[in-house]
Amino acid sequence: MKGVLLAGGTGSRLYPLTRITNKHLLPIYDRPMVQWAIEAVVSAGIQDIMLVTGGTHAGEFLRLLGNGHEFGIERLSYAYQERPGGIAEALGLAERFCDGEPVLVMLADNVVERSIRPMVEAFQARPEGARVLLTPVEEPEHLRHLGVPELDEAGRVVRIVEKPEDPPSHFGVTGIYCYDAGVFDVIKVLEPSGRGELEITDVNNHYVAQGSMRYDVLEGFWGDAGESIDAYYSVNDFVRAYGANKA
Ligand code: G1P
Repeated sequence: MKGVLLAGGTGSRLYPLTRITNKHLLPIYDRPMVQWAIEAVVSAGIQDIMLVTGGTHAGEFLRLLGNGHEFGIERLSYAYQERPGGIAEALGLAERFCDGEPVLVMLADNVVERSIRPMVEAFQARPEGARVLLTPVEEPEHLRHLGVPELDEAGRVVRIVEKPEDPPSHFGVTGIYCYDAGVFDVIKVLEPSGRGELEITDVNNHYVAQGSMRYDVLEGFWGDAGESIDAYYSVNDFVRAYGANKA
């Protein structure tokens, strides 16, 4: 199984901190943000990784990560996204890298308290379709910034709504996804959303419609450090106090 870390975007929600660097290079406690996502993927047993980035600070990733060996990555590849075309477009750049294998995708601003290994192993036991990781979220205001699943009585995902005005459940879809190799064909037929991007939620809804979407509910803390300056600081406070990626 391959790993793809998505570290592009303009970082507008963390402006002006992101005027002089890429969001994923800002510190979370004692290391650059992206290192927490690398640790999550590597400790889930995946060592063949592609980092997709873009913008004007892409070279800094090479300076930080080099060939990745220091971080437990066996083979680190890089891709460059020419314009901020969305998460799904960024993932599309990894098609040749994935070469027909299933893939774990992680948004490099997501930080988890507990290991994502159980989710990855559950997917590997049945590597078809897609698997997402949900996190319980109480506040409707927070849910309005996320992808939110609607679930039926049996707990199956009926659809996922991106940044819903009226959240259909109390779960957020985290930026951690497992896909079979069919994901690249799904990306090719996507239409840009209202914000002009190829949305990962549209990819996920394809799998929902096919009846091949599964999920796990994450235990422990989850944070998207790129969501807002306040979210950035709460993730920092959490990681400083309790750490991340714990078994
Ligand atoms: C993205 C996804 C959203 C998901 C979130 C998790 O949103 O579109 O579905 O809940 O990541 O971090 P973004 O942070 O790009 O607005």
